[in-house]
Amino acid sequence: MNKKTELVVKKVPTESSAPDGFTALSDLELVAQSVIFIFAGYEPTSTSLSFLVYELATHPDVQQKLQEEIDATFPNKEPPTYDALVQMEYLDMVLNETLRLYPIGGRLERVCKKDVEISGVCIPKGTVVMVPTYTLHRDLDHWPEPEEFHPERFSKKNKDNINPYIYLPFGTGPRNCIGMRFAIMNMKLAVVRLLQNFSFKPCEETQIPLKLNSLGIIQPEKPIVLKVELRDGSVNRA
Ligand code: HEM
Repeated sequence: MNKKTELVVKKVPTESSAPDGFTALSDLELVAQSVIFIFAGYEPTSTSLSFLVYELATHPDVQQKLQEEIDATFPNKEPPTYDALVQMEYLDMVLNETLRLYPIGGRLERVCKKDVEISGVCIPKGTVVMVPTYTLHRDLDHWPEPEEFHPERFSKKNKDNINPYIYLPFGTGPRNCIGMRFAIMNMKLAVVRLLQNFSFKPCEETQIPLKLNSLGIIQPEKPIVLKVELRDGSVNRA
C-alpha cells in the first residue's frame, strides 16, 4: 500500500471518533475527497480512452497488431484476467504512447516550501513552480518525431532510455496520481474488451489531424467521432 492510501485509511474513524493519535476527516473534507475522486477518477480515464481509440483508428497497423496480441492472449474472446493484462507488452506500449501525446493534466504545479537555489536559480518560498508536462512530452530533444504516434518508443528495448522526469502522465513524487494503477488497469481492460469485439475506423466527421483545445486540461477541440465495426458479427458480453 502506498503512503497516501495508508494515510487516508488511518484517518477514517471506524466508530464515532477517531482512534487515539489520529485525526478524523471532517464532513467537508469527506465531501471534498469524494468530489475529487469522482472528477479526478472518471474524466481523465474516459478522455484518455477517447484519444487511444482515435490513434488506433488513424493507425490501422497499430490497431491490428494490438488485436493480434489480444487474440493470442485471450483466444475465443475469453474474458481478460488481471495477470494476463499485466503481461501484455504491446497494450502497455500503446497506452504509454497515448498518454505521452495527451497528458491530460497538461502541466503539474507545486508550491515551494522554503527558499532554495537550484542550478543557480533562486526559488523563493511560496513560489508556484510549474512543470510543463505537455511540452516535455513533445520535446524534440527527448522524442524523435515527437508529434507522431509511435508505440515502439515504449518497447522493452527503448523504454529504459526514457527519463522519468520527462515522461510524467501521472505526475511524480509523493503527490503523484493516487489512482494511477487503477486507471491503467481500468483502461487496459476496456481496450481489450472493445478490441475483442470491434475495430475503429475514421469517418467523414473525424478531425484529422486532431486539434486540441487550449484551456489547460488536454481535450479535443471537437468531439472525437469514429466509425465502429463489429469484428466478426458477434459480441461477447461475458
Ligand atoms: C488516465 C487516467 C488518469 C490520469 C492521466 C491522471 C493524471 C493525474 C495527474 C497528472 C495528477 C497530478 C499528479 C502530480 O501533481 O504529480 C493526478 C492527481 C490525482 N489523481 Fe489522477 N489521473 C488519472 C486517473 C485517476 C483515477 C482513476 C483516480 C481515482 C480513482 C485519480 C485520482 C487522483 C487524485 C486524488 C489526485 C490528487 C493526488 C494528490 O494531490 O495527492 N486519478 N492525476
